[in-house]
Amino acid sequence: MRIVDLIEKKRNGGEHTAEEIQFLVGNYVRGGVPDYQISAWLMAVVWRGLTDPETFALTRAMVASGDSLDLSGLAGPTLDKHSTGGVGDKTTLAVVPILAAGGVQMAKMSGRGLGRTGGTLDKLESIPGMRTNLTIPEIMRQVAGVGACICGQTDTLVPADRLLYALRDATATVESLPLVASSIMSKKLAGGAANILLDVKVGSGAFMKTAKDARALAELMVRIGESEGRRVVAIITDMNVPLGFNVGNSVEVKEIVALLKGNPWIEPHLNFLVRTLSGLGFMLAGRCKTQAEGEALAQELIASGAAFDKLCRLVAAQGGDTEYLLRTVKQQVARFKYDVRAAKSGYIHGIDASAIGMAAMVLGAGRKEKMDEIDPTAGVLIRHPVGKQIESDNVIATLHSNSEISLREATPIVQAAFTIEDTPPAPTSLVYETIG
Ligand code: URA
Repeated sequence: MRIVDLIEKKRNGGEHTAEEIQFLVGNYVRGGVPDYQISAWLMAVVWRGLTDPETFALTRAMVASGDSLDLSGLAGPTLDKHSTGGVGDKTTLAVVPILAAGGVQMAKMSGRGLGRTGGTLDKLESIPGMRTNLTIPEIMRQVAGVGACICGQTDTLVPADRLLYALRDATATVESLPLVASSIMSKKLAGGAANILLDVKVGSGAFMKTAKDARALAELMVRIGESEGRRVVAIITDMNVPLGFNVGNSVEVKEIVALLKGNPWIEPHLNFLVRTLSGLGFMLAGRCKTQAEGEALAQELIASGAAFDKLCRLVAAQGGDTEYLLRTVKQQVARFKYDVRAAKSGYIHGIDASAIGMAAMVLGAGRKEKMDEIDPTAGVLIRHPVGKQIESDNVIATLHSNSEISLREATPIVQAAFTIEDTPPAPTSLVYETIG
């Protein structure tokens, strides 16, 4: 078999066998295929696509390129959750401890933020002492003992994805449904959970800009998971408005602590999505018969303090300072704060997620480039939800930063992110669809 023949086959719209795909991926990871040939093949895939059997074979070959977690020995059902990422999406920090408090074993591997979207690892690392680079034996020990961990992907898990993703990033070949779906699902399959819950975001602050594309991605990921014998449910959710009031790192942890402590003043979409994902997770893992029962269980676990206690145990097991979660006085704050005021009176119709993500990055909460340092205390605190009636000059957001120049740069971005109209907005739904 010659790589050049495989490139030509895909360029001409042919369908690969599973052996051909395994040959391509396996040899590439072993260093036997140069980057320029894989890049040419990736571009052919972008144009010609992959059939379902090809996509399943690609995912399998990527999983086979490294280690996988074996969670079969754990007591209780196992579940993994994935979000395609968005602005202010901190649901993992709540859903993992809620599900774990209800007896679902969660070995959750998360990522870092890039550009306008934040990453769960950066948020967690704003807790002093918190370690997220766990080894496979550490993950296994912690899940067996605490019921959950949230850590980075280990180096030995799906090395093919790391290599291919870096190449796709540099060759304009990220935007391909089968390449995105196999990339995400290879990591979920290697994570070892029997049940997989996917949250596919759509809107200005998301990777997927249209509901049609989001649905196609969600359906393909569900088919990939099911082809490997996993139970998969995907929901498609709105990401035109940031999720929650706080966008940043330590400010998002603070918001999750408030939610898990049962504070009633939580942004309605964040509250709703955490309960929806928890309800679906309990149902998928077989803990409850229906999503509604699962949501009620999640509510009980929050009200009893069990979910917050689980978050504290998870943080302590990973070296984090739980006093930081328990006592807000210990939390670091940025040196400078600035209140952004409404330009006119009316009802808030929209808060553009993409613009708020950009402002958070300017303030220091996100990275422009992969290697940039982030400021854990920087962020945007939105003061009112969509639909709220406000007066001109009311504070609509407070910006936190350690740089006064950044505050000045972010202020007009945040002001322009708010759409204010004279009449109340029509109600919109956060969850567009559930698949699987
Ligand atoms: N996220 C991933 O993990 N992979 C992709 O290809 C795109 C987004």
